[in-house]
Amino acid sequence: MPTRFSGTVALVAGGTGALGALTWRGHEQLLAQAPAQAPLQGAAARRADRLLAARPGMVRLDSNENPYGAGERVFGVIRSRLSASNRYPVKSEDDLAAAIAAVHGVRPENVILGTGSGELLRAAVSAFCSRDRALVAPDPTFEAPANWAKFIGAPVVAPRVDAELRLDLDAMADGGRNAGLVYLCNPNNPTSTVHSKADVTSFVERMGRTSPATTVLVDEAYHEYVDLPSYGTAIQRALADPRVVVTRTFSKVFGMAGLRIGYMVGQPETLAKVSPWLLGSNVSELSLAAAAVAVGDAAHVAEEQKKNRAGREHAVKFFEDAGYKVARSDANFIMVDVRRDAKAFKLACVERMVAVGRQFPSHPNWVRVSIGTLEEMKKAEPVFRRVLS
Ligand SMILES: Cc1ncc(COP(=O)(O)O)c(C=O)c1O
Repeated sequence: MPTRFSGTVALVAGGTGALGALTWRGHEQLLAQAPAQAPLQGAAARRADRLLAARPGMVRLDSNENPYGAGERVFGVIRSRLSASNRYPVKSEDDLAAAIAAVHGVRPENVILGTGSGELLRAAVSAFCSRDRALVAPDPTFEAPANWAKFIGAPVVAPRVDAELRLDLDAMADGGRNAGLVYLCNPNNPTSTVHSKADVTSFVERMGRTSPATTVLVDEAYHEYVDLPSYGTAIQRALADPRVVVTRTFSKVFGMAGLRIGYMVGQPETLAKVSPWLLGSNVSELSLAAAAVAVGDAAHVAEEQKKNRAGREHAVKFFEDAGYKVARSDANFIMVDVRRDAKAFKLACVERMVAVGRQFPSHPNWVRVSIGTLEEMKKAEPVFRRVLS
């Protein structure tokens, strides 16, 4: 049943119904009425969350974006390429694939592009999963692959993370027998934990022995933020092994989430199974041009890594000094056990203009806090202190 809000909107409560143009006013009412109504679910809930977090003046610690934004060179190239926007992108797709290939020491045929890595995750689920071929996606992890698998009717096997919030790779390998795809998010969102290169390699080898027809997708969206010395990318593995692909995104350290661009690396034959599920000319001319300069801008990446490390240390110290457990983080967000209902915590923070991550049902007392600028963290801390007191 549609629920009417004064002003402009009708939204479908429950299910994944479309969420119309919801005003800020509608959101306030939504919050006020929340206890009395069926909670929004799925895509509608996520969109409502994002709209709420995007309210002007909100401190955004909810979506693991880079709060400092893209490097200067990105702005320059976008301005200079605006006049080419009347043409469909062709050469710029090749240019970006070549730029990415050069950075990783691979060939352009080893790269396909997506409108964000989210499009590639969805395409991989479509390519490798079906009613008879499950997706293995741990609980919790980035939810998009499992949401899409459910939508297309593929079973989802969801082994829980362990007590340290690390992926249970043994349970994932057991659950992965005869699966179509294993989604291995490393570092994992939302838990912020990471596995070593050796762990990932032995997982892939084990899958090769026990379930050779299963593809393993290693999502390295937060790769640049890892400090664990034993960590390493799975890209070389993906080049050598037709059952492995790696995804990366420009939405995190590169500060380009709004430009919607990501990529997948793998053997051309494996990528050819994923490509048919992508829209042709999926990435805009401006995003292609921007990403081609960003991917080689090592100085900008190093600067963002440094700022994130400082902000992360500051945030971890804040929560630990206040007596709360924080999982080890190798990402641009942290997971904190606030020892109370994470949804209530989030709502109380949002009312005070600080947005944090949503509640994850398997860990109802843990809150994901993205690392903001130091200025944002200073605004957020009194709010956290107040809400926790
Ligand atoms: C682990 C992970 N993978 C993929 C994505 C999707 O990113 P995008 O579609 O912006 O590349 C996200 C977004 O937060 C993420 O956390």
